[in-house]
Amino acid sequence: METIEQKKRVFSAIKPTGNPTLGNYIGTMSRWGGMCDEFDCLFSVADLHAITVAIEPKELRENTKRLFALLVAVGVDPDKNVVFLQSHVRAHAELCWLLNNYTMFGEARRMTQFKEKSEKAPENVNVGLFDYPVLMAADILLYQADYVPVGDDQVQHVELCRNIAQRFNGRYSPTFTIPECKLAKTGARIYSLADPTAKMGKSDGDDSGTVYILDRPDDIMRKFKRAVTDSDTHVIASDDKPGITNLLTIYAAVTDATVENAEKEFSNSNYADFKLRVGEAVVERLRPVREKYEALRRDDGSLLELMRAGAQKAERIAARTLEKVYKKVGFVRL
Ligand code: TYM
Repeated sequence: METIEQKKRVFSAIKPTGNPTLGNYIGTMSRWGGMCDEFDCLFSVADLHAITVAIEPKELRENTKRLFALLVAVGVDPDKNVVFLQSHVRAHAELCWLLNNYTMFGEARRMTQFKEKSEKAPENVNVGLFDYPVLMAADILLYQADYVPVGDDQVQHVELCRNIAQRFNGRYSPTFTIPECKLAKTGARIYSLADPTAKMGKSDGDDSGTVYILDRPDDIMRKFKRAVTDSDTHVIASDDKPGITNLLTIYAAVTDATVENAEKEFSNSNYADFKLRVGEAVVERLRPVREKYEALRRDDGSLLELMRAGAQKAERIAARTLEKVYKKVGFVRL
């Protein structure tokens, strides 16, 4: 008899703070749409995570709708994937509370993003910011995800999630699937065009080095033309050429090539031509995304319907895990 093999499950999320960047796109989002043939996929807008930093209600609402529409626009088909808002599935907050009790203060304190964000906003080092990775663990574990496609700045959080899951499974009995990171082959970390030693981040104040997915073509071109390079003239990737390496990585990622092939392609180019070509490739890659995004944003009602349908599907899976956890811990169930 033929056995039908169950697809492995993928979960990932992005939080609606700031404006989504080319780093988000290359590091993860661009890969999400193509995964549903091989995997059973869930993708979420992590809006509960967004309030760990100060954000105005209006901004949170707008960012959330924008990001949800953008997920669909980058190619995540809501008919083939579960796409939803984290706050629509209450199990995330509930499981987070439960998992807090299987997370050690010392291990949470070691998280580099917590340290970085605390330094950046010392006036708002709230407990939510500290607890952020535990909520992220709840996101992943609720859906029994096998793989978590993320950029490399999230690897430490996924490691913590694995530790929490292993601790819980060891304390009771196998309950959670232990997830693994799936990093992009090219572009797991995209750097700022203005400072190629710093990550391109969506909440950074400095615009000049950050390309946004929804930037207009002339803004994208302007940013690439001004990208920091070095005093050399060769378009090759190496540790002492972070600017050129970053641009080659971006070019390779948006043209689905390898960095080696990109190097060959530009072996006779000067920096100015090279930067222009990278900019054009990014513009072309993002053009259909922006067009689809704009069409989706014209109809708020349909967007809310997609959110509702996604939340219902996610809710069903999450509820099963949560119930299992409550029972194992010893809560009296009705
Ligand atoms: P967030 O919203 O900061 O970023 C979303 C995704 O984009 C990746 N990324 C990058 N990749 C390459 N180069 C860059 N410059 C770059 N900047 C960001 C991030 O690694 C991430 O994969 N905590 C998460 C959201 C989250 C989540 C989850 C992720 C909440 N729950 C569960 C996975 C699983 C975050 O803040 O990502």
